[in-house]
Amino acid sequence: MLMRAVRYARYGGPEVLSVEPVPIPLPGPTQVRIRVAATSVNAADVNVRSGSVKLLSGRKFPKGTGIDAVGEIEAAGADVSSLSVGQRVWAVTCDGRAFGAALGSAAESAVFEASHVTPAPAGVDDLGAAATVMPATMAVRTLGGATRLLAGERVLVRGATGAVGAAVVQLANALGGHVVALASAANADLAQSLGAAEVFDYATTRPGDIRPVDVVVDTAGPGLLAWRRRLTPGGRMVSVVASPRALAGAAAGSVIGLISGSRVRTLVAQPPQEAIAEAARHVQEKSIRPVIDSVYPFEQAPAAHRAFEGGGLRGRVLLTP
Ligand SMILES: NC(=O)c1ccc[n+]([C@@H]2O[C@H](COP(=O)([O-])OP(=O)(O)OC[C@H]3O[C@@H](n4cnc5c(N)ncnc54)[C@H](OP(=O)(O)O)[C@@H]3O)[C@@H](O)[C@H]2O)c1
Repeated sequence: MLMRAVRYARYGGPEVLSVEPVPIPLPGPTQVRIRVAATSVNAADVNVRSGSVKLLSGRKFPKGTGIDAVGEIEAAGADVSSLSVGQRVWAVTCDGRAFGAALGSAAESAVFEASHVTPAPAGVDDLGAAATVMPATMAVRTLGGATRLLAGERVLVRGATGAVGAAVVQLANALGGHVVALASAANADLAQSLGAAEVFDYATTRPGDIRPVDVVVDTAGPGLLAWRRRLTPGGRMVSVVASPRALAGAAAGSVIGLISGSRVRTLVAQPPQEAIAEAARHVQEKSIRPVIDSVYPFEQAPAAHRAFEGGGLRGRVLLTP
């Protein structure tokens, strides 16, 4: 039996992506197969497709693309007991499989480890769920385990109107944090509407322009140490942007990413299932609402990747079958 899947046969620009007929994958004993309703474009997809992480992603082609999904379970492996066929779920994979592009959730069906899957939030449609599965999970991880944000603390979010940043701003606000957002000037209105108390233009703001903060959540990458100096004594900082070392750790399947320096953590690892489930609760309770930049059918995957790479997004870029 065949299905439609977004594939590519060489590294390159978005134009290498096309929809191909491929065999429907069979789940292994600990896996489930999801009938995909929607998936999103993540930096990992673009980095693998472009060849910029080819030391990790290798030379095996064709490759699929897509590391998260929302949909219905259509088959489950013999050892899966916590999930059942017909259940509406969401799933996210950030371990080595994401860099091998073996996952390929931009397809009519995709196989995930059952431990990467939880029930999808009720009362949120498939596009909304696909827009939040990765960002809300990262928000839980950065504000929960990694920095333990407390009510009343000042939290700086770098990249506040990107997909992950938008979820972090909302959850930080819901937890009682005072959110300081760094975003492009064009998206200042969005940062404010998500709950930021202060919004700064990242192009013109220097770290010294911002009063000290208790927590920094970085989704932008460069210049981490300058922002780290804005931490109060006892302040915590986490980045979700992968350094080469952290990427190598994730590809090797390490449980937690790198701790670089005493107070900057890089989170690049498979989120525990509890974090994915907690993300679903926050989305269901509407402490994190979907922020959708655009939606493309699989056939327009090149345009979706181009939009992601172009930047200036207001939330998530989605793909649908
Ligand atoms: N560790 C993990 O498992 C994991 C999971 C998901 C994502 N990530 C990482 O998280 C990062 C963000 O992902 P995303 O999907 O949210 O991407 P995104 O939607 O492109 O968001 C990135 C945001 O950063 C902003 N930005 C760019 N340069 C900046 C700067 N110098 N200062 C402040 N903000 C700046 C961008 O603004 P403009 O585009 O408006 O310029 C954009 O809003 C990526 O590096 C991705 O690899 C990691």
